[in-house]
Amino acid sequence: MQIIKTIESLRKTLKPYKLQDKTIGLVPTMGALHSGHGALIKESVKDCDITVVSVFLNPIQFGKNEDLDKYPARLEADAKLAESLGADYVFAPSAAEMYPDGDPTTMVRNEGLEGLYCGAYRPGHFRGVLTVVSKLFIITGANRAYFGEKDYQQVFLIEKMAKDLNFDIEIHRVPIVREESGLALSSRNEYLSDEEKKNSLGIHEGLLKAKNAYSNGERRVSELRDIVLKSILSNHGMVQYVEVVCQETLQKCTGCLKDEKVTILVAAFFGKTRLIDNVQIN
Ligand code: PAF
Repeated sequence: MQIIKTIESLRKTLKPYKLQDKTIGLVPTMGALHSGHGALIKESVKDCDITVVSVFLNPIQFGKNEDLDKYPARLEADAKLAESLGADYVFAPSAAEMYPDGDPTTMVRNEGLEGLYCGAYRPGHFRGVLTVVSKLFIITGANRAYFGEKDYQQVFLIEKMAKDLNFDIEIHRVPIVREESGLALSSRNEYLSDEEKKNSLGIHEGLLKAKNAYSNGERRVSELRDIVLKSILSNHGMVQYVEVVCQETLQKCTGCLKDEKVTILVAAFFGKTRLIDNVQIN
C-alpha cells in the first residue's frame, strides 16, 4: 500500500486503473481511523478493484471554536490499519495541496438543508464537507464512495449533492459501528473521561427506548423525543437537539407519525465532547 500526498500523483496513479475499467472505491476520512472507518474500508475492498482511503483533516468544515487543533492526527497508524484491511492507497494531502489559494471562494452548498440539526450549531460545516467531498470525487474519479450512517445528515446531504450535480458515483451507506456498550464509534470518543463515557451511553439507551416505544405503538413525536431527552439528561448530558426526521426528505416530523419512515437524530455534549447518534425506527 502506498501513501500519496499530491493530487497530480494520485491522478497519475489511478489513470491506468480507469483505462482498464477497474472499479475505484473511495473512503473519505479525516484520519484517527477506528473500526467504524474499518467497516467502510472493508465494504470498499469487498466491492471494488481498488480502494483509496483519503486522510485529510479538512479545515474548512470546522468552526473557529471547534476542535480542529486537537483532532487526533496519526497518519502512520491510519495507513497501517488501512493496509491491514486491504486498501490500496492512502491519499493524505496537505491543506495547501487541497486549498492552494487559502479558503476556497467556490463552495458547494445545500441551502435548504445545511442549516438544520447539526448545521444550526455548526454554521458553515456542511458547506465545508460538501466542498471537500466534491473535490475528492473529482480528484479520484472514484466509481463508489463509502460513508457511515452515524453522520446521518452528512450522508443524506452527500447523496443529495451527488444526485443534484450528476456526480457519476454511487454513494454507499454503511451502518453505525458501536462499542459493545452501545456507544457509537467516533474519533471524538477519545476525548471522553471514563465517567463521561459511561454517561454517554444514555444517548443510545434513549434511542433504543424510543424505538421500543414506537414498536409498542407510540406515534407522538413529542413523546418519542422526550424519551431520548430524559435518558440523556438523567445521565448528565447536555442536549443540543433531538429531532424525529423523515428519512426521505430529512424534514422535521411533528404531531403524530403515520407510515413514514423516520430517524431520530441526536447531538449532545458530555463534558466538552459533542457526540452525535441516531436510530432508524421503522
Ligand atoms: O465524516 C468525515 O470524516 C468528514 O466529514 C469527511 C466526509 C471525510 C469530509 O471531510
